[in-house]
Amino acid sequence: MQTTVEAPRTAPSVGRGRLAAVVQRPARTAVRWGVRHALPAVFLDRAARRGDLVARLLRDPSVRDEPWAVHERLREQGPLVPTSLGLVTTSHAVAQEVLRSESFGVAWDRSVAPGWVRWALRFGDELDATGVAEPPSMLVVDPPDHTRFRRLVSRAFTPRATAASEPMVRRIAEDLLDALEPARDTTDLVAAYAAQLPVLVIADLLGVPTERREDFLRWGAAAAATLDPGLPLRRYLSAERGLRAMHAFLRGHFERLRREPGEDLVSRLVTLPEDEALTERELHATVMLLLGAGFETTVNLLGNAVVLLDAHRDQWEGLLADPAGWPGAVEEVLRLDSPVQLTGRTARADVSLAGRAVPAGTRVTLLLGAANRDPAVFAEPDRFDVQRANARDHLAFSGGIHYCVGAGLARLEAVVGLQALAERFPRLRVSGTPVRRDLQTLRGFERLPVTLR
Ligand code: HEM
Repeated sequence: MQTTVEAPRTAPSVGRGRLAAVVQRPARTAVRWGVRHALPAVFLDRAARRGDLVARLLRDPSVRDEPWAVHERLREQGPLVPTSLGLVTTSHAVAQEVLRSESFGVAWDRSVAPGWVRWALRFGDELDATGVAEPPSMLVVDPPDHTRFRRLVSRAFTPRATAASEPMVRRIAEDLLDALEPARDTTDLVAAYAAQLPVLVIADLLGVPTERREDFLRWGAAAAATLDPGLPLRRYLSAERGLRAMHAFLRGHFERLRREPGEDLVSRLVTLPEDEALTERELHATVMLLLGAGFETTVNLLGNAVVLLDAHRDQWEGLLADPAGWPGAVEEVLRLDSPVQLTGRTARADVSLAGRAVPAGTRVTLLLGAANRDPAVFAEPDRFDVQRANARDHLAFSGGIHYCVGAGLARLEAVVGLQALAERFPRLRVSGTPVRRDLQTLRGFERLPVTLR
């Protein structure tokens, strides 16, 4: 009875709500792009013209491929340098201190922003366009929410769980290499191998159909750009299309797994008991982050490794002769050519850092890629040496409570994937100019032409 009475009342309003959402979508997109990208771009470009080094790092395409000289100029100015983006550090010790300190958090306090910015962020807020660096992604939320999300996922990435994935990772790597066998001339190693391995592995762990992997790669590649500030409109629109497609896929995936849960992590997340259950938005944010972080970073590690080892052929030969060296080689690649170049934290209280008073609310940018070349920690830091004893002291996986959940898995994929590649194609050579991805936060190759034999 009640349903028949209510149906005519609710149906049109739901329809109107949906219609309003569709009509407002372009306006929301424009506001979102304006506040998150257009304004920061104007601000950063102006700062870059004034010579601000961090702004140049983020905006100057000529610095993107080789940021090391800019890092060194910043290092000369001390461990904590005031810039247009607040404070910035290239120091390993300072970065580590900030990452481990409870006085710094990842969230920023929106209440201190001007009213129109708060309005724009509220108006532009839309689940289906939310990226991995926006709340409630665990990357950008502080405890207690962070603790809650992290506890739910970390069980699937314990050392034991990761070790249990090894046969699966090995099988996927070997299958991909089998498919590469007939390749005669130049092959793009990113498209054919480095991108495929991580996406197939994470798809297996998250129970998503591997037939969709080309879709994920396309959506993920577009969406990865949202980690960088100041995207031009056309790139932002393409990133947003990727995000919307990913959210739409996830919605269907959650529904399927609620009906027929499997043994995977996402099945567990969608069937949690009521007192632990994630909201729809939290579920989207958590799984989107796992999926995206699962393949958008490890692809860079694999590609960067192949390019470095090609340039240091004696070390490639050394690893072929002694495969026990692969774990050390992977750490050295992570250190020297870090796939995630930077992150940031905000002071939650007035603190003292590197002898400087840092007021609450100050943003500190941590140049992880530069900290990993800090001469105070790494002797001859620009030298690639797969036998470097302390390579593993790098901060490529960050530190403190946000230390990469998937670090063990990424290491496993890289060791298994690179060793299998080298053993199958010991004469592999880079043949042509590798093309870097047009990204600042992530660092890797878009295209990597190789000959296999
Ligand atoms: C070479 C590969 C990888 C690199 C370099 C990398 C790097 C990072 C870094 C630097 C952070 C922390 C950022 C910060 O402190 O602000 C992070 C967090 C995270 N990573 Fe990775 N990652 C890699 C692979 C993976 C994989 C394979 C997964 C898949 C499960 C993953 C899942 C995550 C998650 C869920 C977080 C958020 C952790 C938290 O906020 O508590 N990552 N990663």
